Amino acid sequence: MLSLKNIYYHPSTAEEPILRDLCLKSNNGKITIVRGPSGSGKTTLLEIISGLSGYQKGEITWFSKTLNARQRRWLCGLVFQFPERYFLGLSVAQELRLGHKKLTTEQQISALTKVGLINLDLKKPPESLSGGQQRRLAIAVQLLRSPKVLLLDEPTAGLDWSVRYEIIELLAKLKDKQTILIVTHEPELFKNFNTDNYELHNGQLIPG
Ligand SMILES: Nc1ncnc2c1ncn2[C@@H]1O[C@H](COP(=O)(O)OP(=O)(O)O)[C@@H](O)[C@H]1O
Ligand SMILES: [Mg+2]
Repeated sequence: MLSLKNIYYHPSTAEEPILRDLCLKSNNGKITIVRGPSGSGKTTLLEIISGLSGYQKGEITWFSKTLNARQRRWLCGLVFQFPERYFLGLSVAQELRLGHKKLTTEQQISALTKVGLINLDLKKPPESLSGGQQRRLAIAVQLLRSPKVLLLDEPTAGLDWSVRYEIIELLAKLKDKQTILIVTHEPELFKNFNTDNYELHNGQLIPG
């Protein structure tokens, strides 16, 4: 179980604290959704959980063990908003091999299968895939690190309607293997799924 207790974050560059007294619990088996309008601090929250940002007060624990930023970077896989903009590989195979030089073709195919990409030509440039396929590839890249916690920033943004639901169904399938936390400004897409919900409001999380 991932637990955040009374997280307070006020960067010196901001007039007001972005997160204050923020508490959250997230576990396998049920996706956790954090909703909030643009500018409410959703991306900041993911940066803090994944160890990319620090915070001034509070505690982040994994099964009751307090984790520092480095440990959180190991624990978490973060899928950025519009992750396909950050593809670096010249081919799907290369994209998967970034940071995993010795990855075999079998391991690549296994990672792609987990995200529902089957019979994909590994030599294709990632940019030649459809929007939904690119989003799946970005998720596969994170799954290769076997993160215990998968964090997704607006995973449905910018996709066609039918593809949005395909991505949500994929995440619903992955939820038993890892803890999944999604931040989104379109929570209504998840209403038919059994999720734990929070609203980010004034830097705090309100359950429900
Ligand atoms: N390092 C920072 N310094 C100053 N302001 C910041 C910093 N990081 C984020 N903010 C501000 O905090 C607010 C929340 O940003 P963000 O986490 O990107 O929100 P969201 O993802 O919900 O749109 C925004 O007003 C943003 O401008
Ligand atoms: Mg954001």
